[in-house]
Amino acid sequence: MEIIFANEPKEKSLKDDIKTLKRIELALKKSKQLDQTANMELASQNFKYTDCHLANWNPERFSLLYGTWLWNQSSEYQKTILNQLYWVAYYSQIISAEIATIFFNQTCAASLYGVEDFRIVCDTLDLESAQERAHINAFKTVSEELEQTLFGERIFTYPMRTPFVKTMMYSDLSKFQQWLRTQQLRAYTVLSSNSAFVGCQYFTVRGVRTLNGKIVQHQLSKFYSGMKDPEQAPIPAKISYYHFVDESFHFNTSTVISHDVINSLKPPTKFESYIANKSLWGCQKDHYNFSTAINGIFWYDPALYKPMYKILRSPVFGMSHEEALVAIEKSFCEESEGATASAKTHSEAVDSYKAYLADFKYVDKRNRDMLLMSGNNLQKHLQTNKKFFETFRKSI
Ligand SMILES: [Fe+2]
Ligand SMILES: [Fe+2]
Repeated sequence: MEIIFANEPKEKSLKDDIKTLKRIELALKKSKQLDQTANMELASQNFKYTDCHLANWNPERFSLLYGTWLWNQSSEYQKTILNQLYWVAYYSQIISAEIATIFFNQTCAASLYGVEDFRIVCDTLDLESAQERAHINAFKTVSEELEQTLFGERIFTYPMRTPFVKTMMYSDLSKFQQWLRTQQLRAYTVLSSNSAFVGCQYFTVRGVRTLNGKIVQHQLSKFYSGMKDPEQAPIPAKISYYHFVDESFHFNTSTVISHDVINSLKPPTKFESYIANKSLWGCQKDHYNFSTAINGIFWYDPALYKPMYKILRSPVFGMSHEEALVAIEKSFCEESEGATASAKTHSEAVDSYKAYLADFKYVDKRNRDMLLMSGNNLQKHLQTNKKFFETFRKSI
């Protein structure tokens, strides 16, 4: 029975929206049943790079610099390493995003817990944060061992860090812009933990940011689930599958909170709408670029020249200084099957973001139309890569 004290206006409550409440309860129950944490932990414990160092870990087209000059020149062994390096680079970016996710799950749960009957939403987020820690541990274990074995140093991995360091590993932000971004994140921390609307709206950003990841990660997970004998699959391929299972629930949470739970809150103030649109604009900025090196992650290619140079100079490719520069220029600055495929993924992401945001009343036109992000294309991308290659050549 609902208790309403005399002379108190009735607060908005999730219990007024039984359909959504039931959906969240059912999703949490299923998510607990299918929780992949134990599988993730076991996979991390059993991983030995030497057990799977000659195997592909992803479908072939998900390889670093797939369909470029370097790919076409590479031996079968080098192609396998490029395939494994895609896994390492991809999930190193996912680690960075998930460090932020863990943090904002908590700050948003703080504000949502301030609304009557939101406990179930907070419990869901608690489970997700614990799962993210297991995901990060698995990605980190595999990636660090590969890099240590093949290169004796870090290439894409990094020591653990806070969510304020960098969410996008290779971006075009200057040092000042990066500093500004950190200050914006700090402000967003305070706002999201104090305003249920901003807390809820974070899941719009989380939903948009993971839409593209969902498409790629589905492909990566199918590499394992489509195998004749999945038990014999390389451990990293199994991890991709386990991760996709957990993340499907996370994506569902983002969708339900951003589309439905938000209706159980008071309408946003002008300031709250402004903050919501500002965070979506930031998402467009982060996803403006796309990368020829890694289809499906919106990295800024010129920032990848240096790690790529290290890989090409390592014993895996054994290139001289000049050879490595030729390989980078030909692979990043010329039109190729790989660059075209990455551009296509980027434009598919734009379309899916637009569809996700179509029915939100508070989203402004610039965000609804993905004005900034849709302004990039293959020609601009190649021009940028060419322009910054000259700077790189002089600097190294
Ligand atoms: Fe995850
Ligand atoms: Fe997640």
